[in-house]
Amino acid sequence: MSSGIDAGLARDAIGLGQVAGQGLNTRHGTILSLEDLCVSFDGFKALTDLTLYIGVGELRCIIGPNGAGKTTLMDVITGKTRPDSGSAWFGETLDLTRMSEVQIAQAGIGRKFQKPTVFEALSVFENLELAQKTDKSVWASLRARLSGEQRDRIDEVLDTIRLGQERQRPAGLLSHGQKQFLEIGILLVQNPQLLLLDEPVAGMTDAETEFTAELFTSLARRHSLMVVEHDMGFVGRIADQVTVLHQGQVLAEGSLEQVQNDERVIEVYLGR
Ligand SMILES: Nc1ncnc2c1ncn2[C@@H]1O[C@H](COP(=O)(O)OP(=O)(O)OP(=O)(O)O)[C@@H](O)[C@H]1O
Ligand SMILES: [Mg+2]
Repeated sequence: MSSGIDAGLARDAIGLGQVAGQGLNTRHGTILSLEDLCVSFDGFKALTDLTLYIGVGELRCIIGPNGAGKTTLMDVITGKTRPDSGSAWFGETLDLTRMSEVQIAQAGIGRKFQKPTVFEALSVFENLELAQKTDKSVWASLRARLSGEQRDRIDEVLDTIRLGQERQRPAGLLSHGQKQFLEIGILLVQNPQLLLLDEPVAGMTDAETEFTAELFTSLARRHSLMVVEHDMGFVGRIADQVTVLHQGQVLAEGSLEQVQNDERVIEVYLGR
């Protein structure tokens, strides 16, 4: 069965012959397969036999107490941390444990960190323009003419992140929330198939949190999303499935309601 709207997109992934020209192979409807992952830091086990699958177009929330291994999990997926053992596959054919961070990003996994890393002196538009051409130097990219298609994509993303009115403003003058949305826009112009978002609504106003919920729900289906968040109201608004991590393992998985009624989850996390 063919899956995922983005699965057919041709991708220019350097050194990844398997994907060149055919897009990501997600034949079985799974975009990410993590099996028996173990990560330890000086003997401390941050991930222990962690197994997790994310479906194409799914919006998955990951919750769990501080230190449960949520960020470490994202570090493994993005190639920042190598697992001691276990496997991590993107689609059917890309072995994330053997790819560099750059290759993983080019293959279509975008990650948003908590602290925005936009170029403050550049305009909102220029930040998006630059993100579209990650292979060139800053100034070469800004001087190069954009194709109509690229410009259209930036306009579309500006609309999606509601920064159309701010396009010519220096990014440094945006509010905290707007910078977070620009950061998401920077990921979107690169057309990622899987987006990883670590505590995206931390520090946001209620209105910004609400907009983030709408934004993520609208991005799902076209993209797959993995969202780590402690804000249960937010998780309830957006999640298809919720995975609860505890001590580096999957403690429970299901709808938010199912995991909220799980005795073990209440004990280690929600009942605090
Ligand atoms: N580079 C590292 N070196 C040593 N220990 C680490 C490293 N990274 C993470 N850890 C430890 O691994 C455990 C899991 O950390 P991680 O950051 O993945 O948790 P988390 O679930 O993201 O927590 P939080 O909700 O607080 O963000 C913690 O005990 C942390 O101290
Ligand atoms: Mg964390």
